[in-house]
Amino acid sequence: MSVHSETKAVSVPQLAQARAEGRKLVMLTCYDASFARVIDAAGIDLILIGDSLGMVVQGHDSTLPVQVEDVVYHTAAVARGARRALKIADFPFGSDPAPAQAHAAAVRFIQAGAAMVKLEGAGHKLETIRYLVEREIPVCAHLGLTPQSVLRMGGFKVQGREQSAAEQLRASALAVAEAGASLLVLEGVPAALASAITAASPIPTIGIGAGPGCDGQVLVLHDLLGIDTGHRKPKFVKDFLAEGGSIAGAIHAYAAAVRAGTFPGPEHAYS
Ligand code: KIV
Repeated sequence: MSVHSETKAVSVPQLAQARAEGRKLVMLTCYDASFARVIDAAGIDLILIGDSLGMVVQGHDSTLPVQVEDVVYHTAAVARGARRALKIADFPFGSDPAPAQAHAAAVRFIQAGAAMVKLEGAGHKLETIRYLVEREIPVCAHLGLTPQSVLRMGGFKVQGREQSAAEQLRASALAVAEAGASLLVLEGVPAALASAITAASPIPTIGIGAGPGCDGQVLVLHDLLGIDTGHRKPKFVKDFLAEGGSIAGAIHAYAAAVRAGTFPGPEHAYS
């Protein structure tokens, strides 16, 4: 069962409540009103207007070219289609270098229809998380394989495999929660590490390439539908269209598998 009722929008406090009650959170990316309508009807809890739009909508090789304007545009479109799912807008690369600049962008995302904003990393971003939360803007943090770090990482690589990196990741997870984040996306990290972080985390975790031990899961919509975006599909991706039989069926099948704990399976996880 989804965290939301038929009529009411999913709220930020309901995320912690779902975790406390042991209900998995289901998140999906979306970039337009029509898909948002289908996703909302399928009872998906959270919609991420991700900067992945740079790769799956705009055709770039990374998320780096995405602009604040793009995220505002797609957030507004999604908000017109989805009334109930909680909508999270993603800060694009370079848009959150300091708290005041991040706040200016975040206000635009909220006014376009988002109820939460997502930013990658910890470190100097902790100050930004605190700044936004103190100004009533809920924040989702994103750690592990953060796609905006692709140049430093030398590609889209699993993070936290070495002990020192794993310890750093654990410390960052606690730090973003302490700074006030309400949700934490863990991307591309070994399953055992993601489970340990989830157990220690005071806030719900959402995994993508992080194994089955998180409090919820997120996938990129195009990956769930098996659409060829011109990019190599990582092992955590599953095409649900075959078993779902239709776009709505695929989204329902994904939500059911996450809630039943059957997706992701061991074949989708890193060690
Ligand atoms: O931009 C995005 O879609 C994301 C998810 C992959 C978590 O950040």
